[in-house]
Amino acid sequence: MEHDDPTEALTDLQERRLGMPELLQVAAGSGLAAYAVWALLLQPGFRRVPLRLQVPYIGANARQVEHVLSLLRGRPGKMVDLGSGDGRIVLAAHRCGLRPAVGYELNPWLVGLARLHAWRAGCARSVCYHRKDLWKVSLKDCHNVSVFLAPSVLPLLENKLQVELPAGARVVSGRFPLPTWKPVAVVGEGLDRVWAYDVHGAEQNISS
Ligand SMILES: C[S@@+](CC[C@H](N)C(=O)[O-])C[C@H]1O[C@@H](n2cnc3c(N)ncnc32)[C@H](O)[C@@H]1O
Repeated sequence: MEHDDPTEALTDLQERRLGMPELLQVAAGSGLAAYAVWALLLQPGFRRVPLRLQVPYIGANARQVEHVLSLLRGRPGKMVDLGSGDGRIVLAAHRCGLRPAVGYELNPWLVGLARLHAWRAGCARSVCYHRKDLWKVSLKDCHNVSVFLAPSVLPLLENKLQVELPAGARVVSGRFPLPTWKPVAVVGEGLDRVWAYDVHGAEQNISS
């Protein structure tokens, strides 16, 4: 229906009810928008990662970061965050003296954001963020490792840590514990809880 008067047109629009075709259009439009956000922001990093190993981004909160630092502070050697997100744990670790501090992250947008945060903090040359698959990174020179990942990937991660980490290394796991290792320290409550594990050598970490 054509209207010359805009007020009339608005009233007409307000009085119209959405029929099934319009509802379907709205649903298809929203679905497409959600897919575009997912494909553009999340998918780029995960194309080659099996579905069961894909862990979505959820940044550690301030208390979780503080718990990680309380378990790593003062330790010598390289620190890495596996799945470093926007880099907050790596930056905090560097600021509390862990050197070098390195993040491995698949999502290129998050790697860019982490570098931006480091640059704004004046640490662009001191911390490192690599766009790399954590499953393909060698951990043989890592003495301090932090992980905030999902329970579904932790059994596989345990194997990788056991095989690659040097004796004396420490692993801190946030939100979820490693499934079979025995922690040497636990701090925090609920989802803020962080577990620390020390690597002694083959088979010595398994809890009975
Ligand atoms: C729960 S977030 C934790 C982010 C950060 N460590 C923190 O605590 O703020 C997990 C991160 O791991 C990344 N990630 C998942 N699988 C990965 C993989 N195979 N290689 C590298 N990064 C990965 C995700 O993109 C996401 O940013």
